[in-house]
Amino acid sequence: MTTSSTKRIINPARRIFGCARIPGDKSISHRYAMLAALAEGSSFITNYAPGADCHATLSCLRDLGVIIKTSDTEALKNNGTTIRIEGRGSQGLTPPSNILNVGNSGTTIRLLTGILATQSFESALTGDESLTSRPMERVITPLTQMGAHITAHNGRAPLTVTGRPLHAIDYIPDIPSAQVKSAILFAGLQAKGTTTIRERAITRDHSELALEAFGAFIERSNNMSAHNVTNLQGIENTDTTYRVAITGDQRLVAQSLNVPGDLSSAGFLAAAAAALPGSELELIDVGLNPTRTALINVLRRMGVSIEISEQKVLLGERRGNMVIRHNELHPITIKPGEVPALIDELPLLAALATHGGGLNVTGAEELRKKESDRITSLVTGLRNLGANITEQRDGFCVQGDKKISGGQAESFGDHRIAMALAIAGLGANGSSLILDSDAVEVSYPNFFDDLEAIVE
Ligand code: S3P
Repeated sequence: MTTSSTKRIINPARRIFGCARIPGDKSISHRYAMLAALAEGSSFITNYAPGADCHATLSCLRDLGVIIKTSDTEALKNNGTTIRIEGRGSQGLTPPSNILNVGNSGTTIRLLTGILATQSFESALTGDESLTSRPMERVITPLTQMGAHITAHNGRAPLTVTGRPLHAIDYIPDIPSAQVKSAILFAGLQAKGTTTIRERAITRDHSELALEAFGAFIERSNNMSAHNVTNLQGIENTDTTYRVAITGDQRLVAQSLNVPGDLSSAGFLAAAAAALPGSELELIDVGLNPTRTALINVLRRMGVSIEISEQKVLLGERRGNMVIRHNELHPITIKPGEVPALIDELPLLAALATHGGGLNVTGAEELRKKESDRITSLVTGLRNLGANITEQRDGFCVQGDKKISGGQAESFGDHRIAMALAIAGLGANGSSLILDSDAVEVSYPNFFDDLEAIVE
């Protein structure tokens, strides 16, 4: 994101109380939109994520000839945006007349590159300053092995993708990344033969579930959708390798889909309730896919009380309501093996730890490759608000030993840093000024209003 001059004041809060409905899951929204574009027929997606990232996906798809109608009326507010996508079939995208602009969205560029590698035309993709500094070899390498022709600038966007007929590969990504897995799966959907991906640690499996929802056949070992998650015990995939395989030349069929609330966004409000004595917060219809719920287990390890109810599974995606209540916070350590399943939640956990307890994170170097260098941005921002936090090469350590002072801190144009600073600020002695606060537009445009509604 380019830096802007927006600011938000966060005042110290007494407690959090109430109920909130969280906007649709960003990861699931991207995947549903992309697969709907490749399907045959009209798909309807309700509660599509409202942030700039998921709008960038729609805008790129429109540039590729896909007709998309959105309805965003006040009446639909409680149910998020509803979109209708006229699928063009697996080879029906049309050459864009401009360079495709993904904005700040790493998921859009990496997944779309997998799709474009199979189309019979050349396209180019770019994004904002943050996006064009993020590594793309992680998708270029496997897609090139499949026969794609992709050029980059020192491994970064802008990318040019020359679509060709691809062949299957059997691939073990160096780093656990759902974006990499998804780019390969989406390319594999149209490649010759059976493409296999083996992950050392399972990453979010929304692409697998979305492909199945659109009628594709995939094979998975260690089938996570069948995993018993009623106790939300979390997934420790330390000994086993997760394997997923897709055979090419499959047709997708249009669907009606509803996106659950985004647990990674919900986590910020949950952290606020966890932080402040006397708090009680209910979050309605949040995604509880077991590859995403490590956060819940970590919050419980910190002492937070979380009750889950109304669980159901729709199109493979588990969802339900959560009630979060404050309890005394304990210090915890996040080990390297836990990091992939918590990668988007580490900022909110750091913010929570400034209220009490404390948090030590190692093996999280990947955080430096996100929308900002999240280790440096977190440490700088939280320290500017008076937190006792130290930076390490691959992590950070927060001492939750004193109330923070408040002060002025910037988001570095990173949505999750802006929200983390706000959550930390609720527990400060004085006010906190968050600079570049409109970074929240990327995933949770109403974040500050939703927070204000539950703060007492
Ligand atoms: C995402 C995967 C994760 C995550 C990102 C969304 C996805 O990235 O951090 O916010 O939707 O697949 P990596 O795949 O790079 O770990």
